[in-house]
Amino acid sequence: MTTTLITGANKGLGHETARRLVEAGHSLYIGSRDAVRGQRAAERLGARFVQLDVTDDASVAAAVRTVEAGGGLDVLINNAGIAVAGEHGGEPGAADLTADVLRRTFETNVFGVVRVTHAFLPLLQRSAAPVVVNVSSSLASLAEVTTPGSPRHAYPGVAYPASKTAVNMITVQYAKAFPGMRINAVEPGFTSTDLNRNTGHQTVEQGAEIIVRMAVIGPDGPTGGFFDVNGPLPW
Ligand SMILES: NC(=O)c1ccc[n+]([C@@H]2O[C@H](COP(=O)([O-])OP(=O)(O)OC[C@H]3O[C@@H](n4cnc5c(N)ncnc54)[C@H](OP(=O)(O)O)[C@@H]3O)[C@@H](O)[C@H]2O)c1
Repeated sequence: MTTTLITGANKGLGHETARRLVEAGHSLYIGSRDAVRGQRAAERLGARFVQLDVTDDASVAAAVRTVEAGGGLDVLINNAGIAVAGEHGGEPGAADLTADVLRRTFETNVFGVVRVTHAFLPLLQRSAAPVVVNVSSSLASLAEVTTPGSPRHAYPGVAYPASKTAVNMITVQYAKAFPGMRINAVEPGFTSTDLNRNTGHQTVEQGAEIIVRMAVIGPDGPTGGFFDVNGPLPW
């Protein structure tokens, strides 16, 4: 049986991805920084809970020990992510961005991905078909953000897009370093979740589709790519 860990799976896209992968027969770990929320989600979904705060080395190390004792790991989905809201609710634009906002955003969205991936690499390397899915965003795409008329061009925030651009670079460099693994970045699409105060126009069912698809790719599937539900995206 394929064993899968999803970070930030107590709600939103991670929760829906977990639901779909349990349905597909995966043995699922619900990673959640909050024990109550995580345990509730795991019970709802018929999955195991593991406490995991992606910003905390000790929490991640303990999660590795738990998953190792449970039999190892085949699929890691780096899903936990944040956008730090400014005074007016949305992300601060360039005029209001501070180093503190950038640092907090990167701590979860970028350093969190590396902290978790690095810690779980030994387990993934023992898997017969290891897979990593990094949940990115089309706001990561320099091509999209610099194309006038693109919906991404109008987005004023800096920290969140920059963090996801870093996730994309991390994805391609890991994919080259570990050719035996399938390591891809995905864009779920603008999905109604707490991240955007439920302003997204897609449902979590729609948004989770590409995450699930990349989580179940076989050893012949793509690696080092950036995909949405319609196919490859421009970097
Ligand atoms: N929604 C969209 O339109 C959209 C579009 C493109 C990409 N994405 C990406 O999709 C991913 C999931 O976001 P979502 O939209 O589902 O948002 P969400 O509903 O706010 O879920 C985010 C999840 O991340 C968890 N999380 C935050 N910080 C964490 C930490 N330090 N350690 C562990 N977990 C942490 C949250 O846990 P708590 O409940 O404890 O806060 C929650 O479970 C993110 O990477 C996001 O950037 C979303």
